[in-house]
Amino acid sequence: MIRSGTGNLDHSVVFAERSKRKAGISAFQFSGRSVENDEIISLNFGLPDESLFQIPNLQEACMRALHADHVKALQYGGATGTRRLPNFIAARFARQWGTSAEHGAVLVTNGSSQALDLIGRLFLDPGDEVWMEEPTYFGAIHIFTLNGATLRGFPIDHDGLITDAVEEDLIHRKNSNAPMPKLLYTIPNYHNPTGLTMSGPRREHLARLAREYGFYIVEDDAYGELGFSGAVSPPIRTMAPENTLYVSTFSKTIAPGFRLGSVIAPEQIIQGLQSMKAEGGTGGLIQEMMANLLESMDYDHHVRSIAAMYHARCDAMIRAMASCMPEGCSWTMPKGGFFVWATLPEHVETAALWSCALRHGVSFVGGQPFYVSESGANRMRLSFSYYPPDQIEEGIFRLGSAVKAYLSDASRENAG
Ligand SMILES: Cc1ncc(COP(=O)(O)O)c(C=O)c1O
Repeated sequence: MIRSGTGNLDHSVVFAERSKRKAGISAFQFSGRSVENDEIISLNFGLPDESLFQIPNLQEACMRALHADHVKALQYGGATGTRRLPNFIAARFARQWGTSAEHGAVLVTNGSSQALDLIGRLFLDPGDEVWMEEPTYFGAIHIFTLNGATLRGFPIDHDGLITDAVEEDLIHRKNSNAPMPKLLYTIPNYHNPTGLTMSGPRREHLARLAREYGFYIVEDDAYGELGFSGAVSPPIRTMAPENTLYVSTFSKTIAPGFRLGSVIAPEQIIQGLQSMKAEGGTGGLIQEMMANLLESMDYDHHVRSIAAMYHARCDAMIRAMASCMPEGCSWTMPKGGFFVWATLPEHVETAALWSCALRHGVSFVGGQPFYVSESGANRMRLSFSYYPPDQIEEGIFRLGSAVKAYLSDASRENAG
């Protein structure tokens, strides 16, 4: 072991090679500039509004879970007893989409992040390919990279992933006897970071490709409940049930602190994922609490009302952008979820703009961490989930001022 500049031992020299496969968001964008700093309006992370956490209902759900009759929930394997939560998830999916997510085909996980990690562990050998939209959720880039995958990005437009581009590559692979991708990761509803939604025909096309070429679709539906109009195409899982792993989470609708997500997939895959769980199972107590909560509330009504609130915030952001952002900027118009994706003039580097934005009292996530290639330098993700409309408007006013200041500094430098 060697000593670092500060005189402390540098332990990282003995870390496994795997730990160095870090990709996704860089540390500087996490650095201290979170919502805890009151002076900065943080439009960076997709945090749900804390006023939506159902504290009295949660207290009640917790007290019921801790009743002596439920002592088994506190034991090792406590989650395997009742299966109330996986049954709720399966029944809800079946009711919403008219297909059966039969008992036994649901695995509850520690957030949907763990679901993605278990999928990586189960399916990926070093060098196996995972195909994905580009841009995409940086957490997925990080998780699949840690699992040794080679990532390949495909473009996205206003109808979501361009499935013709995927098909072209599959045909090419087939004709040249090259290996097929193992997994295709997609966020069809209110995509992170762009807010865009995949059209019905594109879903059908992708489902057909998965069946025909024999790869698996990882359908990440983190924001699916948060549509502004209620109407959305059915999940890809309903179109290719043998080839799709449907991943979902309670982080955006109930609270991320529960760390509860799930996978719906064919039974054999669920058993495989279960065997990849090294921690012995997602906590029994926390599952009982969630099951109590869901059974005691009108969850459908709850998700509709929070979606309406996020809709108003999204509208506030879009309106403010139209009046505050300088010419040459454009942005997406999401129909749900948490995010707007903005594109600035070609020469703007959002990583460089970031410090200027902080001086103006606002932050965002620059585009690059969402790409597997070296792209996205002039893009940014803006989250409308955390603040009420007046603060979002103020945040966008500050952002507009920062972009204008940055652009006029840049043109002064060019003139000089
Ligand atoms: C698209 C997407 N998938 C998965 C996650 C992970 O969520 P969690 O692990 O809290 O369920 C997030 C979180 O932001 C996300 O945006």
